[in-house]
Amino acid sequence: MSGNSSDQQARLPYQLPFPTDALSEIVVSDAVPDDERVWVPQAENVWFRPLCLNRSQGYWVNLLKVRKAGILSRHRHPQAVHGFVLKGRWRYLEHDWTAEAGGYVFEPPGETHTLVVPDDVEEMITLFQVNGIMHYVDPWGKVLGYEDVFTKIEMCRGHYDSVGLGKAYVDRFIR
Ligand SMILES: [Fe+2]
Repeated sequence: MSGNSSDQQARLPYQLPFPTDALSEIVVSDAVPDDERVWVPQAENVWFRPLCLNRSQGYWVNLLKVRKAGILSRHRHPQAVHGFVLKGRWRYLEHDWTAEAGGYVFEPPGETHTLVVPDDVEEMITLFQVNGIMHYVDPWGKVLGYEDVFTKIEMCRGHYDSVGLGKAYVDRFIR
């Protein structure tokens, strides 16, 4: 095969149909949204913005935004979490390291932590993939509540309905 035809083949798109039962892709061009309404309030000074709400596998990918003095309440993860910091800086009360813009964090199953933003940071934004469930707990592990992909979807529906985007706005993120 000549160099030319092999280059042509390298650039030839896959020629067969995708599997009949495959789900459709999600493409979010404005992951950090221009429209502030896309941020779903979670707690005082804490918001999330869904990217993938995977009800078929029980995980979700979102951007978490925490402004000055905001706290993401103490919670336990029975499954792993991946995080990538896009903006700002934050830390957990339970660890001595700080996550900074450009940094990656792997949180192993069994983690219990409380996310806080230092006083000198106006705002942090971090992409998190959270698997399964988060149990909100008291300082001694007593379960106070939980979140999973279904509670996330419900929060999105309620919020998007209330701000005029409509309940169905969340559907584009669900697989
Ligand atoms: Fe967490």
